Amino acid sequence: MTTTALSYTPQVERVTRPLYERIRHVMPEMEWAVHAPLVAAINELKRERNAVILAHNYQTPEIAYGVADFRGDSLALAQQGAATDAGVIVLCGVRFMAETAKIMSPEKLVILPDLEAGCSLAASITAEDVRRLKAKHPGVPVVCYVNAYADVRAEADICCTSANAVKVVESLGSDRVIFIPDGYLGRYVASKTGVEIILWEGACEVHERFTPEEIREYRRTQPGIHVMAHPECPPEVLREADYVGSTSGMIRHIADEKPRQVVLITECSMSDNVAVEYPEVEFVRPCNFCPHMKRITLPKILASLQTLTPAIEVDAQVAAGAKRSVERMLAVGRASGTT
Ligand code: 13P
Ligand code: SF4
Repeated sequence: MTTTALSYTPQVERVTRPLYERIRHVMPEMEWAVHAPLVAAINELKRERNAVILAHNYQTPEIAYGVADFRGDSLALAQQGAATDAGVIVLCGVRFMAETAKIMSPEKLVILPDLEAGCSLAASITAEDVRRLKAKHPGVPVVCYVNAYADVRAEADICCTSANAVKVVESLGSDRVIFIPDGYLGRYVASKTGVEIILWEGACEVHERFTPEEIREYRRTQPGIHVMAHPECPPEVLREADYVGSTSGMIRHIADEKPRQVVLITECSMSDNVAVEYPEVEFVRPCNFCPHMKRITLPKILASLQTLTPAIEVDAQVAAGAKRSVERMLAVGRASGTT
């Protein structure tokens, strides 16, 4: 790719105009001029490579609306990774998400544009930790939030995401469950199910930083504001919220309720992306950045399509175990007809 090819030429301006029109109210034109040459180059190369780009809702708008073929929460990305016909999947998200795609489609080339895109939850627990928990609580089923690496998921009975955690735990019909690795999500599930949850105290470094005091302050300064929080937040934060749900749950809730003014207690890019879809809703934007999600950038996506690296590999035996727990989760969704 030459430097000329990466300039904001009239040709680049023309081919990317429809993409920009969609996001212009969340991005100044001066900023788009920087992204557009990369967007045009990525979209061209994506077609040549028969690649599909899957982006998590926390990716920035130039990725989510400029180059992604599909945007969604962790559950939707897992389903898309399993369903796509493309030979190459570029996962714009973090490593555990790319591992899910690889586990579901081992024959495909799955690329994560920056292998350092990790997650504080996934880093909080090892497969050995899970084996120790199982030895301490024999016979108690293990539910693993997908924000964990493949070897950890392989030790679990079933996976869940924030969208289906309550349903997955209820599906087990057990009065005790080991829930890993998110302690806050585990507490939220306990509060909704009455199931005794044996917790692992991992936490999302983005959501654990929100406080009930800041929510009370938004309510004081913006009377009538609708507060929506992700269940990775601490319980005292969730108690202050009008709605608790996964990133896609928040989008559905906004579509249904059409609140006038909203604060999303979650990662920063979420508000920008939802504002693209609902320009009539006013988003108050205090938020926290995920440093891992933000490792994914347009230049890295372009480089990864040029070189078809870095590829995600998962050991075959680990993948088989992890696939079983992800598939059990997807089957719970199908049985309840909701996912
Ligand atoms: P969901 O999009 O599944 O709600 O996950 C949020 C998250 O923190 C992913 O890293
Ligand atoms: Fe992990 Fe939290 Fe970042 Fe999601 S937002 S990738 S849970 S650190």
